[in-house]
Amino acid sequence: MEPKVSPSEVLMSQAVQPAHADSRGELSAGQLLKWMDTTACLAAEKHAGISCVTASMDDVLFEDTARIGQIITIRAKVTRAFSTSMEISIKVIVQDKFTGTEKLLCVAFSTFVAKPVGEEKVLLRPVVLQTEQERVEHSLAAERRKVRLQHESTVNNIMKESSRFEDPICNKEEGTATTTGTSVQSIELVLPPHANHHGNTFGGQIMAWMETVATISASRLCHGHPFLKSVDMFKFRGASTVGDRLVFSAIVNNTFQNSVEVGVRVEAFDCQEWAEGRGRHINSAFLIYNAVDDQEELITFPRIQPVSKDDFRRYQGAIARRRIRLGRKYVISHKKEVTLSTQWDISKKGFLSNSNVEALKNLASKSGWEITTTLGKIKIYTLEEQEAISVKVEKYVGSPAHMAYHLLSDFTKRPLWDPHYISCEVIDQVSEDDQIYYITCSVVNGDKPKDLVVLVSRRKPLNNE
Ligand code: COA
Ligand code: ADP
Repeated sequence: MEPKVSPSEVLMSQAVQPAHADSRGELSAGQLLKWMDTTACLAAEKHAGISCVTASMDDVLFEDTARIGQIITIRAKVTRAFSTSMEISIKVIVQDKFTGTEKLLCVAFSTFVAKPVGEEKVLLRPVVLQTEQERVEHSLAAERRKVRLQHESTVNNIMKESSRFEDPICNKEEGTATTTGTSVQSIELVLPPHANHHGNTFGGQIMAWMETVATISASRLCHGHPFLKSVDMFKFRGASTVGDRLVFSAIVNNTFQNSVEVGVRVEAFDCQEWAEGRGRHINSAFLIYNAVDDQEELITFPRIQPVSKDDFRRYQGAIARRRIRLGRKYVISHKKEVTLSTQWDISKKGFLSNSNVEALKNLASKSGWEITTTLGKIKIYTLEEQEAISVKVEKYVGSPAHMAYHLLSDFTKRPLWDPHYISCEVIDQVSEDDQIYYITCSVVNGDKPKDLVVLVSRRKPLNNE
């Protein structure tokens, strides 16, 4: 039986030619973004039946790269229609011409708004769901929409909250870098080939221009070859048209061991606005790069030392965005949920204890831990894997290890040092070492107050360990 194809699904296949590649012979991320935006727009218009504009493209994750001679296929379809907007899922596969093997190159979600000529609003018809997978994506789309529309305020809330703990701007420390040399300014004149039939600039073209300036900015910090890993939201705040001048400003905001976040702001000017120096802010995006040196080794970026108020605000913004990215990986994931815990039962106590220690030892020895935040003597590391995110907190304290362990593992003391915990009480003493706690937490990011029940084990290590 033929597999069911969604009525809005659109496929685009492209052979990667030298003109699409960067200096290393790899498909440039900007070119790929252009093709992805076009395919997504055509899927949106297939569903809407009228012309549509890109409102945003979020959660762009580049899993791999394509080389000259390879063939890529972009698959876009509408996952859900809301009122006037639709979410489009985009998946890019690369195929090797000689071996025929296929790999996932990129996944992303775009939102398009149906925009007839004039002011009138068009309400979209719902998407017809044919498969179980489409039904799952349809419900996840509502969650992703919430995250997307609240994104800016969530970043601001986290920044406000973390400014209470962060170090203020200080003098340059050894081994750190400032972002001053990474600032890039560029300009483009929008011509007819950059625009659609209404004269509006293609969203994909703007994203490609943004990627170009961001890559230059990242390369100024790493002195190597940066390659795009992910993008934190291209948000199209307003339209630009043929004849507009687009001014791009980019600078490094922060680094996280092997990755760097570059921010890009775009302003549009028509002829009169240009003469008056009064632009329209049409887009801002945050692009995350890795980089390799001439030996193809992953580069470790220097830590950033903010030296001005703006630097510090952007530095904190990058930390907040990274926290959101890591946190929402599960909510928005297109991947299957994995079982993260084993059911607790007193008969499994010894087994669980040993396997937990073993699992933690294995986890700690994995490569790929990246520093997310450094606050004085505290370092927070994260490890992103295919289906899980792990967090490791490291803090140097001037007390013996057993004392620090005793204090930290006593959850009744936690409200004294963790402002998120309002109360914490033991509701069941399972054994000498194991207690069940009832915890209440404060409101974070305007979310509902949370309460939870956890089992805490405080077993002493065996003598011979
Ligand atoms: N991400 C996703 N959806 C968004 C969004 C964002 N950042 N901002 C707004 N939307 C959605 C709203 O949720 C709403 O959806 P709904 O009707 O299904 O509930 C829809 O867009 C319209 O929102 P509204 O508040 O009425 O309109 P707006 O004044 O915010 O306009 C745009 C939204 C996208 C139409 C407008 O900002 C725009 O024209 N941007 C430029 C588009 C463009 O030129 N793109 C590139 C070229 S194609
Ligand atoms: P914010 O400054 O709050 O991050 P903006 O939308 O103003 O938000 O800018 C987005 C990003 O664009 C910034 O984080 C920064 O990386 C970059 N940027 C903004 N203004 C400039 C500038 N004048 N020069 C260089 N880069 C800039």
